[in-house]
Amino acid sequence: MAREKFSSTLGSLLVLAGSAVGLGNIWRFPYMLGEYGGGAFILIYLVCMMLVSMPILLVEILIGRRSQKTAYGSLGVIDRDGKVWKNFGSLFVLIPTITVSYYSVIGGWTVKYFIDSCALKFTADSSALEITGVFGDFVSSPWAPMIYHLVFLLAVCVIIALGVKKGIEQFSKVMMPMLFVIMLLLAIRSMTIPAQPGISQTAAQGVRYLFVPDFSKVGASTFAAALGQAFFSLSIGMGIMLTYGSYLPKKDNLAKTAAYTSVFDLIFAVIAGCAVIPAMFAYGMYSNPEMAVNGPGLVYKTLPVVFSQMPLGSVVAIFFFFAVILAALTSAMSLFEVPVSWLVETGRMKRPAACVTVFVLTYVIGLVCSLSFGVLSGFTIKDMNFFDALDHVTANFLMPLAGFVVVLFAGWKMKKSDIMDELTNGGELKGLAKAFPVIYVLIRYVAPIGVLAVFLSSIFGN
Ligand code: PHE
Repeated sequence: MAREKFSSTLGSLLVLAGSAVGLGNIWRFPYMLGEYGGGAFILIYLVCMMLVSMPILLVEILIGRRSQKTAYGSLGVIDRDGKVWKNFGSLFVLIPTITVSYYSVIGGWTVKYFIDSCALKFTADSSALEITGVFGDFVSSPWAPMIYHLVFLLAVCVIIALGVKKGIEQFSKVMMPMLFVIMLLLAIRSMTIPAQPGISQTAAQGVRYLFVPDFSKVGASTFAAALGQAFFSLSIGMGIMLTYGSYLPKKDNLAKTAAYTSVFDLIFAVIAGCAVIPAMFAYGMYSNPEMAVNGPGLVYKTLPVVFSQMPLGSVVAIFFFFAVILAALTSAMSLFEVPVSWLVETGRMKRPAACVTVFVLTYVIGLVCSLSFGVLSGFTIKDMNFFDALDHVTANFLMPLAGFVVVLFAGWKMKKSDIMDELTNGGELKGLAKAFPVIYVLIRYVAPIGVLAVFLSSIFGN
């Protein structure tokens, strides 16, 4: 049977962007942007993206499309007689399986906050202390998070069960434009909040904090942070892009696909920064040491307080949490698809059965993660609860390792002529043939060194 393909170039782009745009763009990038020197950080991020993460993204979709296999089989098929490379297939299935397990727990939290915001819970009737207290009570309770987690994972499972075109592509085509428009509106709202009585900071200062380059904040750690974020944000080192690559139409220009995806991901992250940071400035939250400025604390504690104080904040909250659900859903879909496609390809299961299998497995692992904030909080690995430990191991070790393997494979094992052939669509794309020597240097030398840097900085940096 012919492999199912995305039906159009635009569809493919929205699917890839759907995976890339996720929680990292909303709760990590905005903070980094301000903290590491605003416009200066954007420049450094751009350099890291162009030299390291974009070439890896390109290589992953290229190998995927060349091999016409899922992440599990792709390296092995290209390296026909080899014994070494095909062994990494399991790694590419393992990483997204673990990740979707804990990512969907967070997806569940978002569903709860969306429902709460629809019930108008974030209003001036509640004090900041009450609002921030909700989060701790919620995540440490045994039942409620399990149910929301179930709802989120079930939605992912149903979309994936519908298939590559009718599920992944169709939903991305609807969800991604919606997400983009909502985030844009939120950014406009946030940047136009007038000065508040009794608060010394303003939204305009927040905008300046995000964009005015401040090179005095740039140091070695800025590069490490930018590189790590560029890596995580493009969903590479996960087997996702290998798998999605195998669904890309033959006529698509892969270099363009990789470039558009990366640029869109960055633009979205900057817009998210405009939606989050100025509002926090305007309500004096950014300088308040009690308030989290990044990570889950930002989304589930600080921002609900901001919404409660903002005129029309209840409506803003509904849109915001809906946007976070969309961002998390499209990323979770891409993670879930990897083990499903592997089961279909090698386990001779039909897609629906594979979806149920992955659903049960990831829900169970997710439950342990979810409970690790409450009844299982005593169970720790190196002082981290189970949730944090899984996140730590995958993001800091397994993903850079997998990214390294893929880029080494492309640069040092694959035939140069095969890469050239796939990149230029069999010689049709003349411009890319000209640019090939530069791209090949990035693939062979620059990108592997970059990933190694991510890896080393995650081992020694924290
Ligand atoms: N790229 C997503 C983000 O920026 C996160 C993610 C990583 C999703 C890896 C899937 C796989 O949030």
